Amino acid sequence: MALYAMGDFHLSFQVDKSMDIFGSVWKHHEKKIQKKVNRLVKPEDTLVITGDHSWGRKLEECRLDLEFISNLPGRKILLRGNHDMFWDAKKTARLNEQFNSDLYFLQDNFYTYEDYALVGTKGYTFEGPFYYDAWGNLMGWDEEKEEHAKKLVDREMVRLRKSFEMAREAGYHKFIMFLHYPPTNILEKESPFTAIALEYGCERVVYSHCHGSSRFADSIRGEYQGINYDLVSGDYLDFKPVKLLP
Ligand SMILES: [Fe+2]
Ligand SMILES: [Fe+2]
Repeated sequence: MALYAMGDFHLSFQVDKSMDIFGSVWKHHEKKIQKKVNRLVKPEDTLVITGDHSWGRKLEECRLDLEFISNLPGRKILLRGNHDMFWDAKKTARLNEQFNSDLYFLQDNFYTYEDYALVGTKGYTFEGPFYYDAWGNLMGWDEEKEEHAKKLVDREMVRLRKSFEMAREAGYHKFIMFLHYPPTNILEKESPFTAIALEYGCERVVYSHCHGSSRFADSIRGEYQGINYDLVSGDYLDFKPVKLLP
């Protein structure tokens, strides 16, 4: 039995949105996902998929994408990404009913893996625009957008704390925290997300959303303040899931 993670499948079996323009790593990426996940993940394993599942805007436009995911081996736990328009955060319980025991949607709830609680939410990070001078020195950023981002971070923090608290009330003390957005942006060393991971004594923080080699170093990777941070964007991993626990 093992716990794996990977995110950002960006599937489009029903809508016209090829990912090929983003570089060779995305060429037939759905075939890579199928091949590598099937080779690695066993039926008794768990795979957490950290958002940006489908380009469809409504559930009807995502049917084949979600069917593709449900046909992968193991228990699949899905997190919300910024592109997952089919998923209304307030209606997660309904999705869990519809896809019962086929797919599990992580939002305002938690799942377990052995003695670990798997908690999470989409998260949010202010991604600019940042302004630089001709020498590449940071001169400032869009402060209005930053203000708006703070509100979104606050809302996501409420959701994340709820997930932690539900797990704690159920008796769990070991946590793995999943986010879609990176926990910090390119200017930050810490954020409300790194703080809550410390507060609850998380062992790992797992996130995706960063695409392309110029963005892979946007946030924390590796050990920081005793917590292990893993970037699991599909293109970063060349679509081979990361094993988090044996
Ligand atoms: Fe993405
Ligand atoms: Fe994303």
